[in-house]
Amino acid sequence: MTSAEPAEKLLTPVLSDPWDDSRPWTLATYRRHHGYEGLKAALAMPPDDVIALVKDSGLRGRGGAGFPTGMKWQFIPQNDGKPHYLVVNADESEPGTCKDIPLLFANPHSLIEGMVIASYAIRCDHAFVYLRGEVVPVLRRLHAAVAEAYEAGLLGRNILGSGVDLDITVHAGAGAYICGEETALLDSLEGRRGQPRLRPPFPAIAGLYACPTVVNNVESIASVPAILARGKEWFKGLGTEKSPGFTLYSLSGHVTNPGQYEAPLGITLRQLLDLSGGVRAGHRLKFWTPGGSSTPMFTEEHLDVPLDYEGVGAAGSMLGTKALQVFDETTCVVRAVTRWTEFYAHESCGKCTPCREGTYWLVQLLRRIEAGEGVDGDLEKLLDIADNINGKSFCALGDGAASPIVSSLKYFRAEYEQHLAERRCPFDPAASTVWADGPRPGHQSATEREVHA
Ligand SMILES: Cc1cc2nc3c(=O)[nH]c(=O)nc-3n(C[C@H](O)[C@H](O)[C@H](O)COP(=O)(O)O)c2cc1C
Ligand code: SF4
Repeated sequence: MTSAEPAEKLLTPVLSDPWDDSRPWTLATYRRHHGYEGLKAALAMPPDDVIALVKDSGLRGRGGAGFPTGMKWQFIPQNDGKPHYLVVNADESEPGTCKDIPLLFANPHSLIEGMVIASYAIRCDHAFVYLRGEVVPVLRRLHAAVAEAYEAGLLGRNILGSGVDLDITVHAGAGAYICGEETALLDSLEGRRGQPRLRPPFPAIAGLYACPTVVNNVESIASVPAILARGKEWFKGLGTEKSPGFTLYSLSGHVTNPGQYEAPLGITLRQLLDLSGGVRAGHRLKFWTPGGSSTPMFTEEHLDVPLDYEGVGAAGSMLGTKALQVFDETTCVVRAVTRWTEFYAHESCGKCTPCREGTYWLVQLLRRIEAGEGVDGDLEKLLDIADNINGKSFCALGDGAASPIVSSLKYFRAEYEQHLAERRCPFDPAASTVWADGPRPGHQSATEREVHA
């Protein structure tokens, strides 16, 4: 993949393939796009071979950490006499992260097909989807798709005459970012307050109801049917050696055409900006996140970093959820980081002291710096508190809260100092609103048109 290739050739619509077709959320449309062919291929193989195929394909979890999916399935002990569970993490709440909800809204059957395949592989006959409860239209659509799948013999008893059974329960969460952390999610699903569990034991040994459990992200599971239908070599032929395959990159912020761009892993932001019409007209890139607000920010100098797990890691950040939030030169970095930190302080579950207390104090400091009321030593204090959260908290929410502060001070310390020296914010917040320069150029997918019709 080189930047000399025409931009549109870089797109690989697989999950998004049916999105612009009529009523893509229905079984009929999904079938027109080879839906449930991966399931037929899987059911013709022994379950262990399905695990081996997914492992050999190199698919890595799309929920943030990039853990190899097939390896996670292999950790489930077999012949242990216990029920096994598959739990799909559809809690999607991090600022900027917005791929699973559109995917479920447009094409819920890709997840259902992937769930049947994954459940068959790990010998599970009851799987769960933990969905962010606020997204009621997606909840309704998922319920309808599950009912449609039962009706068509794709769920329930003796699926497609194979002797395999699977029930799916769709659970609506109450809306807490921490319930996306896999062990907090399991506690919440069991009816308790969602707070992370001590590990070990890991969910593969003692997960839901203390039984072996696989927790996977929506996009991870929805990517499985295509691998079964088209083969591991096809999948490995996309992306990079250690990060094979295709994925959804979500562009938001100061971009001419924000949205989902499905492309091979290893594409760069420069190429994605070519595809999306670039930074909004008349402006230039200032900073961006490679994988949501919890991943250390990048600047213009990182435009050619390959957006795969290794490339982003080597450049000092994390690929995370591939949520590319783009900010131009009108944005005050202190203001952006303050908003993110307010989010983390609000969402901190309170279980551990560094995160519970630290995020509170970070917000106090950032608010006063933004308001022009900061004092000498505030920047050192910010870094000191961030250092006491990072790596010392019970779960990764704490690390995520520290990362925008540390990375913004690395690249934009002068801007923080300007707030202190001038005793005011030097930016006009109105100039950074997305449509400050006029309305967004008209763009509606077929799905959007039908939904709004
Ligand atoms: C605070 C926090 C929030 C998270 N939210 C999500 C989420 O909304 N969706 C998700 O798939 N993973 C989320 N994760 C990551 C999960 O803990 C877990 O790694 C993931 O669901 C595993 O799926 P995968 O292997 O398919 O990526 C979150 C982690 C943390 C620490
Ligand atoms: S790091 Fe924050 S969210 Fe995670 S357990 Fe501690 S207080 Fe809760």
